Amino acid sequence: MRLLVTGGAGYIGSVVASVLIEAGHEVTILDDLSTGHADAIPRRATMVRGNLRDDAARVLAGGTDAVLHFAAKSLVGESVAKPGLYWSHNLGGSLALLEAMRAAGVGRIVFSSTAATYGEPERTPIEETDPTRPTSPYGASKLAVDTALTEYARMFGLGAVSLRYFNVAGAHADAAGQWYGERHSPETHLIPNVLKNALPSASTAGAGGAAVKIFGTDYPTPDGTCVRDYIHVADLAGAHVLALAATEPGQHRIYNLGNGTGFSVRQVVDVCREVTGTDIPAEVGPRRDGDPAVLVASSARIQADLGWRATRDLTTMVTDAWTFAQQRAAAGAR
Ligand code: UFG
Repeated sequence: MRLLVTGGAGYIGSVVASVLIEAGHEVTILDDLSTGHADAIPRRATMVRGNLRDDAARVLAGGTDAVLHFAAKSLVGESVAKPGLYWSHNLGGSLALLEAMRAAGVGRIVFSSTAATYGEPERTPIEETDPTRPTSPYGASKLAVDTALTEYARMFGLGAVSLRYFNVAGAHADAAGQWYGERHSPETHLIPNVLKNALPSASTAGAGGAAVKIFGTDYPTPDGTCVRDYIHVADLAGAHVLALAATEPGQHRIYNLGNGTGFSVRQVVDVCREVTGTDIPAEVGPRRDGDPAVLVASSARIQADLGWRATRDLTTMVTDAWTFAQQRAAAGAR
C-alpha cells in the first residue's frame, strides 16, 4: 500500500515507518522536524518536510491508500504550561489532516492515541470502556481527536483505529542494522533517563549529574513508587500493521496497547542496573505533578479482535534501549 506516516521522524513514527517498509509498503513521511530528527527517517521512505495544516492536502493528492498519524506534541507537563499549543497542534492539525483526507478520498487512518485520555483510573487494568477523564491538555486534545474520528467514521464512512499507548520503551533495528530509538529533548521518560546515567560520560558529569531522580516514594503501591505498563516499541509497531489491515469503512475502533503487567519505578531502575552492569545511583525526589499511582492496560480487546499480544519483556526493552543509547553515545550524539 501507499502510506502516509505523519510524524515519521519521531520515536514511534520512525519505528513504525521502518516496520511498514519492511512489510513491503511504500511510505511517505510528513514531518516538520520540530521534535523529530531527519536522521531517524528510514532510508527507503520519501520525506516531505512540512505540517498537517499547510502540506497534508498536497502530499495526499499524490495518491495514498491510508494514513498512520503520529505527528503531535506529546509532553504532559508542557501541555499544562501551553494548552493552546497542544489544542492547536493535536486537535487543529488532526482536523486539517482529516479534511485533507476527505478531499483526497483517503478513507483509512490509524491514530496514535494515549493512555492519558483516561486520566486517573478508577480501576486497573484499564479497559477501553472505562471513563475518559484526561487530567492534562495533552490527554484532552488526543481524546478530542478520538471523538472526531468517531464522528468522521459515522458521517463520512472513514475507517479508523485509535491505539492508546501506555508506556512505550525499547528500540528497533531494521534488517539493514539501522537502529531507531527514543531521543527526546528534553528527555522526560524514565528508561532513557536512567540509562543516560550508565553511559561512561555520566561518571564525569559532576556532583548530582549522574543520579536518577525517583519522583515520589509515597504512592499507594508495593514499593511506594509509581507503577506503569511498559510495552516494547516493536510490539507496538506490530499492532499498527494489524490495525491498518483491520480498518473498515464507517468504523472507529479503539484499542489499548500494553502488557497488562505493571512495573514500579524502582523495578525499572533495577532492570537497568542489571542490563548495564552498572550500579546507577538513584535519589528520591518529590512527586511529579499529575502522575497517577498506577497505569496498567487491559489489552484483552486487541488480543480478541486482532490476535495481537506483546511478546517482548522489560529486560528486552531495556536491553534494546541500552544498545541504542550506547550506539548514539559512540557516534558522539548529544
Ligand atoms: N520518573 C522518574 N524519574 C524520571 C522520569 C520518570 O521517577 O527521571 C517516573 C515518573 O514519575 C513516572 C514513571 O517514572 O512515575 C514513568 O514516567 P515517564 O515519564 O517515563 O512516563 P509517563 O507514565 O509519565 O508517561 C507515559 C507516556 C505519556 C503518556 C502517559 C499517560 O510517556 O506520553 O504515559 O499517562 F501521556
